[in-house]
Amino acid sequence: MAKLSVDISNIFDFVSSKQVFAYKEELMRNQELLESKTGKGSDFLGWLNLPSSITDGELETINQVATDLRSKSDIVVVVGIGGSYLGAKAAIEALGNSFATILPNKENPIVLFAGQNICEDYHKELLELLDNKSYSIVVISKSGTTTEPAIAFRLLKQHLENKVGKVEAAQRIIAITDKSKGALRKLADQEGYRTFVISDDIGGRYSVLTPVGLLPIAIAGFNIQALINGAKEAEKNTGIDVRFDENPACIYAAARNALYRKGKNVEIMVNYTPKLHFLTEWWKQLYGESEGKENKGIFPAGVDFTSDLHSMGQYIQEGERILFETVLSIESPLKTLIIPNDPANLDQLNFLSGKRYSEVNRMAEQGTILAHIDGGVPSIKINIPELTPYWMGYTMYFFERACALSGYTLNVNPFDQPGVEEYKKNMFALLGKSGFEEKGKELRRRLGEF
Ligand code: PA5
Repeated sequence: MAKLSVDISNIFDFVSSKQVFAYKEELMRNQELLESKTGKGSDFLGWLNLPSSITDGELETINQVATDLRSKSDIVVVVGIGGSYLGAKAAIEALGNSFATILPNKENPIVLFAGQNICEDYHKELLELLDNKSYSIVVISKSGTTTEPAIAFRLLKQHLENKVGKVEAAQRIIAITDKSKGALRKLADQEGYRTFVISDDIGGRYSVLTPVGLLPIAIAGFNIQALINGAKEAEKNTGIDVRFDENPACIYAAARNALYRKGKNVEIMVNYTPKLHFLTEWWKQLYGESEGKENKGIFPAGVDFTSDLHSMGQYIQEGERILFETVLSIESPLKTLIIPNDPANLDQLNFLSGKRYSEVNRMAEQGTILAHIDGGVPSIKINIPELTPYWMGYTMYFFERACALSGYTLNVNPFDQPGVEEYKKNMFALLGKSGFEEKGKELRRRLGEF
């Protein structure tokens, strides 16, 4: 059976295997903290056994709602930000056709996103597009009070109601939120929307395997049962009973912490397929929000190779030596494309004739890893068999578990995000929200308005 594996053989010019294995006891203790729910932030561990506890009935309900929206929509707009956006976006981009939005004879509705930014042009253009489309909305906010999705939903709700009427709009809006708290819950109850609940013990960035991720992924036409099966296998293979040296989550957590201790403060997630761009974005949020606190934490960055070898490649090869990379290596592409022979051979590339595109990509990957090691950049490799729902579920759970273990190694609470509040307070103060008057005056002074 194929499996996800973590290859750390290319970091040993920079840290010894002894230094990596020195984390063994600590990580096994962290496993216990997770399992016994006695570590920091232990009231946010609902994600830990989610794959093995989600029932067929729950998946069936999600699939039924997805089928209903699919039957009545050319487009489904998913409204959310952060953890209420990135997981679904990552999975849909990884699993879908690269040109899904412009394919003729589309089988699946197009899933678009809103409320993940506050850009006026973006949202205006979205509404203009929706003027002539049949669409539905999935609005996701755990707190139910986040400004970005709340504004976008206000716009979209009015647009949909004007287009199809209030009664039909209520049939086309699904809310995913807290079971009892927040403005979105109140609104959903008042308007009679169908809802899914985000459980209290699951934070946004760990919520991709709840309806937050699963409903949009099912709407986009992907098999969520397979995704959960992969996550379930990952739950088993990263669990407390698995030996440290056979546990990919432990090995990854140990390797990155050993590198961090050596001054490698930036981890660059590398992919060799644009389909994984948003998996990196999801990973950046997961690791950045979980570890970046108390003036600690590896800075998570991302590049898309080979595109970014022609931009960021120079810095990675020869810039400040504070970097290590983690390469997402997909073992088998799902499609086949052979490079043709050209009798004229003006580009001198006939030595590639008959080879698969993926072989060129593989050699680019292997050559780059070696060049980076020579340039002082250690390289971790995560081998993922293929980009299917099963392996997406597996990979996402693996990263969640490794993140929690790694966060405990840094002795931080990997499940809170106190720093995120600061920009919100300033934004509210500058926008004149009641209760923020004094802060507003102070900020405007600093901005030079007084
Ligand atoms: O990980 C987190 O908790 C955050 O990124 C949230 O997901 C994000 O802020 C959105 O929050 P909410 O779902 O409450 O609107």
